Amino acid sequence: MTAADRALFDRLPRCAGLVPFTPLADGLPTPVTRLDERLWVQRDDATSTAYGGNKVRKLEFTLPVALRRGGPVLTAGGTGSHHVLAAAVHARRLGLDVEAVQFPQPATDDVARTAAAVAALDVRVTPVRSPYLMPVALAARLTALARRSPYLLWPGASTPLGCLGHVSAGLELVAAFAAVGEGEPDEIVVALGSGGSAVGLAIGVALGGWRRAAVRAVRVADRVVTNRVALAPLVSGTLALLAAAGGVRPAAPRLVIDGRWFGGGYGHPTDAGHDATDRAGAHGLALEPTYTAKAFAAALDSVEAGRQVVFVQTYAGRATVGS
Ligand SMILES: Cc1ncc(COP(=O)(O)O)c(C=O)c1O
Repeated sequence: MTAADRALFDRLPRCAGLVPFTPLADGLPTPVTRLDERLWVQRDDATSTAYGGNKVRKLEFTLPVALRRGGPVLTAGGTGSHHVLAAAVHARRLGLDVEAVQFPQPATDDVARTAAAVAALDVRVTPVRSPYLMPVALAARLTALARRSPYLLWPGASTPLGCLGHVSAGLELVAAFAAVGEGEPDEIVVALGSGGSAVGLAIGVALGGWRRAAVRAVRVADRVVTNRVALAPLVSGTLALLAAAGGVRPAAPRLVIDGRWFGGGYGHPTDAGHDATDRAGAHGLALEPTYTAKAFAAALDSVEAGRQVVFVQTYAGRATVGS
């Protein structure tokens, strides 16, 4: 697997020599399949046989920076964070240690399974009582680790570099539709946590030439941390990186934040999510309550409103490493 296999580098060959990249995903491009007349799915559960899902796309562009530094990777998330697990699985493959600051979230089977997999990988965990205490704890651990050249992997790996992985996913989606002679869908529906997946996809499909399709980003985290103002620097930073490294200026990304499916809080299951999980099961898709159940509920709602929809299946299930 080389840089040549990535849609981003096919489209912008100049980027390949200019942005950090290390191949970690062995399932790209992921399959895009039609579930029924108006519903498609981009199978990002299949990005990696070690541990798939959306995160590995970002780690291909962020972990090489940690590799250059050589020290431990420090990151953060909830006790059931797929991001922390993905960072642990893939950083270990590169020979890097991982530490995490983690806050509690409602216990579900998936949270228990993910936390157990993280523990099995010997991740050093600093617990905090609330997500709002993460920055202080991260600063304290960075100071404690300073002599070992730690790399701060931003929670969710949602930085402009991380977003490049999802720009590539957007380009894959455009290519998959073109390959079967389909026009643009109306919407691409994806869970919105730290934002890199939604922002990268919106920029990627615009770069690929779609002029109508919008990304419906289904907010699963508190509005104070996940909102249009918070996403703006991610959008402008990613566009600036593409301009500098790739020499392109894609059309403005079309991104709609949908907060209607959030329910009682981050990680709190919802009735609509339970229903969506059952309906996804009938299509052979396994969801979890924090992200994908809420996003698929939004996708089904859009389909029922008559729109052509692509749901991005960002949840990988189990890791084959550490579980
Ligand atoms: C399964 C799953 N889907 C979606 C997301 C949201 O992605 P992002 O943080 O890029 O918004 C996450 C983030 O942890 C996730 O674990």
